[in-house]
Amino acid sequence: MSGPAETKVLAVCLGNICRSPMAEGVLKQIKDENNLPVFVESAGTAAYHEGEYADERTISTLLNHGITMDSLARKVRQSDFNEFDHILAMDGSNLSNLLKIAPKNCKADVKLFGSYGDGKAIQDPYYGGQMGFSKTYEQCLKYGKAFYESLGYTLNAI
Ligand code: 4NP
Repeated sequence: MSGPAETKVLAVCLGNICRSPMAEGVLKQIKDENNLPVFVESAGTAAYHEGEYADERTISTLLNHGITMDSLARKVRQSDFNEFDHILAMDGSNLSNLLKIAPKNCKADVKLFGSYGDGKAIQDPYYGGQMGFSKTYEQCLKYGKAFYESLGYTLNAI
């Protein structure tokens, strides 16, 4: 398996109902399939949807891939920056919002999720159709695998 003994990862978007719960579900699935010692959660930079389940299109897209997502939305907390090792921003705006509130010399490495792959942002699928959610899933899978491999974990499954 290799890689760190324990890693805590937080996926972050704006509302925490579309992209970051997708990333959370995919990262958990890869971790479970490969028995990685990783803890995964997600959050939003805004509190609009705090306490709500993920968007039904995120839930159904994940379910089509055998992943159950029942986490509730929450806002990013200051304490997250010293509790998590990695904070993965879904787009450039999420990243700049995170960097604005990050405590100096915090523990977390705060980066664009796509920086572990082709460097692209995961665009907000909220106002579009199902296609956007499928694309979000595919990007999360690609970046999720690349992220874990960048940490030194060897992936056998998924
Ligand atoms: P997310 O998408 O950031 O991927 O969860 C959004 C969901 C809801 C809103 C914005 C983005 N909203 O404005 O309500």
